[in-house]
Amino acid sequence: KQILVVHGPNLNLLGTREPEIYGRLTLSALNDRLVDLATESGCTLNAFQSNHEGAIVDCIQGARLDGTNFIVINAGAYTHTSVAIRDALAGVAIPFVEVHLSNVYKREAFRHHSYLSELAIGVVAGLGADGYEAAVKVAIRH
Ligand code: DQA
Repeated sequence: KQILVVHGPNLNLLGTREPEIYGRLTLSALNDRLVDLATESGCTLNAFQSNHEGAIVDCIQGARLDGTNFIVINAGAYTHTSVAIRDALAGVAIPFVEVHLSNVYKREAFRHHSYLSELAIGVVAGLGADGYEAAVKVAIRH
């Protein structure tokens, strides 16, 4: 089983960006945790981060060709704006879980709508890094 974890814009700043909202774990420490979790179960996990919408679309499209079975995605702010990322996920038809570190529902109203949720197997929000771990566990068992 091959799992792809996609991190969207500004998630490269994890650990230093608004730590009271997003936590103190860095992106590379988070990715290391997720790789360990997948490896323990005999799965492969590749992590990708980009601040660019088109690069995220390209990455999702590539997943159809490279044998990816499951996607875990935190599209960051593009969650709330990107029809292109939604269409890419629909286009590759790879099952995915949507993750948000913060509880988007107790934040600004513009974070309450996601273009991705309707297509997702499930959505995790507000559980910090544990939410990614939960999503990877779902990916492993799926
Ligand atoms: C986020 C929530 C988004 O609203 C925000 O734009 C992010 C991160 C989260 O993980 O909580 O960049 O996806």
